[in-house]
Amino acid sequence: MKLSVKGIKAVSASPKTKDYPVFLNDEATKPVRKLHSSLTGYEPTPLVVLDKLAKELGVKNIYVKDESKRFSMNAFKALGATYAMARVLCDRLGVSIDEADFNYFKSEEVKAKIADLVFVTATDGNHGRAVAWTAQMLGCKSVVYMPKGSSKFRLDAILSHGSDASITEFNYDDAVRLAYKMADENGCIFVQDTAFEGYEEIPNWITQGYTTMAYEANKQILDKNLPVPTHIFLQAGVGSMAGAVLGYFANKYEAKLPKTIIVEPDAADCIYKSAEKATGEPVNVGGDLSTIMAGLACGEPNTVTWQILRDFAHAYVSCPDYVTVEGMKALAHPMDGDEMVISGESGAVGVGLLSLISKYKELDEIKKMLEINEDSSVLFFSTEGDTDPENYIKCINETTELDFDK
Ligand SMILES: Cc1ncc(COP(=O)(O)O)c(C=O)c1O
Repeated sequence: MKLSVKGIKAVSASPKTKDYPVFLNDEATKPVRKLHSSLTGYEPTPLVVLDKLAKELGVKNIYVKDESKRFSMNAFKALGATYAMARVLCDRLGVSIDEADFNYFKSEEVKAKIADLVFVTATDGNHGRAVAWTAQMLGCKSVVYMPKGSSKFRLDAILSHGSDASITEFNYDDAVRLAYKMADENGCIFVQDTAFEGYEEIPNWITQGYTTMAYEANKQILDKNLPVPTHIFLQAGVGSMAGAVLGYFANKYEAKLPKTIIVEPDAADCIYKSAEKATGEPVNVGGDLSTIMAGLACGEPNTVTWQILRDFAHAYVSCPDYVTVEGMKALAHPMDGDEMVISGESGAVGVGLLSLISKYKELDEIKKMLEINEDSSVLFFSTEGDTDPENYIKCINETTELDFDK
C-alpha cells in the first residue's frame, strides 16, 4: 500500500521471518559491548519514558533513547567508529579483538606502532567527529571531508579533535567517493559508515558498533518492567544505524519483532524509493540532497544494511523538514511531568511523525497503515542533540502554524 498526504509519503511492506542477519545478534556483538565498556566515560545513555506525551498522542508508551548523552559526542556515531577503528588496529597488530581493548591501544608500545596511521572519512558531521575523536584518543591522525553546505558548528567540532577537516563542493555521496580516492592514493585507512560493492568489512564493523544502542534500550525496557515496544521508528541516512537496530531486534524477537518504520527526509529518501520500487535492489537519489536533517542527507543506501531494511521493516516513510521540526519542538518543550530531550534535526523525525499522525485527521490513513493505536508502545532513538546549536534554537522556537485539519 502507498499513501501520500501533505508531502508525507508512506509505503507498507510484509517483512520476512527468516534469514536473520546473524552478524548483528547478541553473540556476534558481544565483543562490541566489551570494547565499548573499556572506553573512558562509557555508560548507557538514558531511556526517557514520556508518559504525558504518550497520553497526549493517544498511545500507551513512548520511549526515547537519548543519544545526545553518548560520551561527549552529542550523537550516537562514536559507537560505530570506535569499534571499527579498534578492529582495524587489531588486524594491523595481529591481535584478536577478544584480547584488545582501549587500554591495550593506549600502552606506549602499541601507541608507537600506530602513531603514523591516518584515518580518512566523509561525513555530514557526527561520524566524522567520532572518527576524529577516536583517532585523537589513539594518537593517530584523521582527515575528514564534508559535503557542501555543511554546518560551521559541525566542522568546528571535528577540527577541535585535531582533524584535518574541510567542507567540499560535493554532495554527501560524492564526498564519500573523494574520501575513498584520497585514502587509496595516500596509503591511509578509509573508515566509512556505509558499504558498497567491494567495501563491506569496515562498515559492517561500524554497523555492529551501533548495536550497543539497541542492546541498552532493550535491557533498559526489560529491567524497568516496561511493556516491550510494539513499534520502533528508525531514521535513515544510508541506513546503517537503522539496519543495526532492526537487525539486532529481528534476531532477538524473531516472529515477535516490533513493527519497524523507517523514516527519511524527502530530499534524500533512497530507502523509501528502494522499497517503493520493490525490485529488491537499492535505488540511489542524486542532486543536492538539501534538508535540515543533515545526518540523513544521503542518497545511496548501504548495500548490506539495505537488505535488512528490505526484509524486516514494516513501512517506509518519506518526510518533509517540517516533520522533524515538530519532533524537535515536542521533545524540547515537554508536557508537565515529562523530561526534556534535546533532539537535533536528524534525531527527532520519528517523534515528529508520530505527533503529526496522532494530531491530524488528514493523516489518519497513514496512522492506520502504521497500525498505531492506544495499545502502541513506541521506541525512538534520538540519535543526536543540538549538533548545530543555532539552527536547533531556531527550529524549537518556530511558530509557523501547519495547514492541517485537526
Ligand atoms: C544524528 C544522526 N542520526 C541518524 C543518522 C543516520 O545514520 P545512517 O546514515 O547510518 O542511516 C546519522 C548519520 O549520520 C546521524 O548523524
